[in-house]
Amino acid sequence: ANAGGAVVTTRKGALQSMPTTDEINKMIDSNKEFKMDSFRPGFHFSPPTHWLNDPNGLVYYEGEYHLFYQNHPFSTQWGPMHWGHAVSENLIHWQHAPIALFPDEHGAIFSGCCVVDWNDSSGLFEGHHGLIAIFTHADTYPETDQPRQRQSLAYSRDKGKTWHKYTGNPVLAEPDLVDFRDPKVFWHAESKRWIMVIVAGDHVRFYRSENLIDWALVSVFGQEEGSHDGVWECPDLFELPIDDTGRTKWVLIISIGDNPSCPEGSRTQYFIGEFDGVKFINDNSADHIMWLDYGRDNYAGVSWSDIPEEDGRRVIIGWMSNWKYANETPTGIWRGSMTLPRTLALSCQDEGVVLTQMPVREIEQLRKDLMSWSDVRVTAETPFSQKISDDLLEIEADIDMGSSDEVQIIMKSSGESETVIGYDSMREWLFIDRTQSGLTDFHSSFPCNHGASMSQENGKIKLHIWLDRNAVEVYGNDGLVVLTDQIFPDAPMDSISIITKSGQAKLNLLHIHALQSIHASKDVIKQTL
Ligand code: FRU
Repeated sequence: ANAGGAVVTTRKGALQSMPTTDEINKMIDSNKEFKMDSFRPGFHFSPPTHWLNDPNGLVYYEGEYHLFYQNHPFSTQWGPMHWGHAVSENLIHWQHAPIALFPDEHGAIFSGCCVVDWNDSSGLFEGHHGLIAIFTHADTYPETDQPRQRQSLAYSRDKGKTWHKYTGNPVLAEPDLVDFRDPKVFWHAESKRWIMVIVAGDHVRFYRSENLIDWALVSVFGQEEGSHDGVWECPDLFELPIDDTGRTKWVLIISIGDNPSCPEGSRTQYFIGEFDGVKFINDNSADHIMWLDYGRDNYAGVSWSDIPEEDGRRVIIGWMSNWKYANETPTGIWRGSMTLPRTLALSCQDEGVVLTQMPVREIEQLRKDLMSWSDVRVTAETPFSQKISDDLLEIEADIDMGSSDEVQIIMKSSGESETVIGYDSMREWLFIDRTQSGLTDFHSSFPCNHGASMSQENGKIKLHIWLDRNAVEVYGNDGLVVLTDQIFPDAPMDSISIITKSGQAKLNLLHIHALQSIHASKDVIKQTL
């Protein structure tokens, strides 16, 4: 419900008074800072105003995809968390909706998920079905500053328009745990139970329930496995088919928080294994680490629940920022955006079963003009060069590395900025260099050149790139290697050149699609609470 004008308890226990919708819109109109809409992405999801972090409550229900998100509706910095809300029919164009969940007497509303309670297992829908959000209530232990995180429910009987907190909240507490958050719940058909996967600092815990209200711990995983460079956050667990083998594997996704001694900051790892409704067994050795994305800006990603079975896809979306500098990025009235929604699949590679990802097919709706080339030879002296008049682009390049040592795709702005996507043939290394990408000095770790191993097949590589006003997403070899990075160019992109360091490469195919924006207008979108 709309808490405009109300007084609520924040995570720290302090009182904060909530402005009304009118007051917020007045603030937007009168405040210079709020008028700046710089770097507003053209086709990535961003909040109308103010702060966004993790995606939450991703669920498909009665023809609508819901995207909730960690939101501070009164600041462009992290603070007392609410669940912002948007709805879409195609995962691309989003309708902003009123804030879904406000902090209450149990604290702020941290990350969590939504499920459709089809059979009214909770008893909250009088025999019908509806949406249940399972989220972390975050406050402090009484009389202390010690964070306390407990799990709670909210339900909606009108397709997510209005929400009611369950009166028995919180439904799950572990008084000995400090970090205990980000529940992800799904229906496990074989054991006929709801399963909750949730993080607790350095491990995940699996709980099960028949009614989403009473939860029993069944196992734990991970204290000795994978990367522990940061606190574990935002888990996800699901089953996927492996290529066309008829076999399946379970994927456990775990985000790991920023650690001051790691230049990468916050990032996301995953495990492949088996899950029987009780225990997750890792297929790989405990020290084998797999990353979801090798860019710097893909965190806290989780997948949609209840996407229609005939569609059979698993779609993930991530927060396109990094806790190292998330509070300092140079945007205007809004801060934080999401990655493109991506379809996940499993592929058998020499190193074992790995995840691949590509943007959902619906993204093709945004294509407008296409420029195409084939068999273009490039060297260090004779680059391919093209002026562009659109700054929202999709670029497909099939490259034969030939005798070249390194191929670079250089995206230049009409000012001084350039962002480079490169492939080093000797090292078999795909990279993004954003050291000269525009505004970079808001944090010392932002300007950087980073990448990942990517093999070439018979000297050939495939790149598929989406370029927005605030970001670039690079998919190598059909989504086997992905790099997602924010960039803040000093002016719109206006040329693309492709060049080698030395030797000759051939662009077997090059497509540059200009893309439409998902916004009806570039104007500031006012907040509606
Ligand atoms: C991840 C995270 C979650 C937490 C939320 C708070 O980015 O730290 O663990 O629930 O953000 O906003």
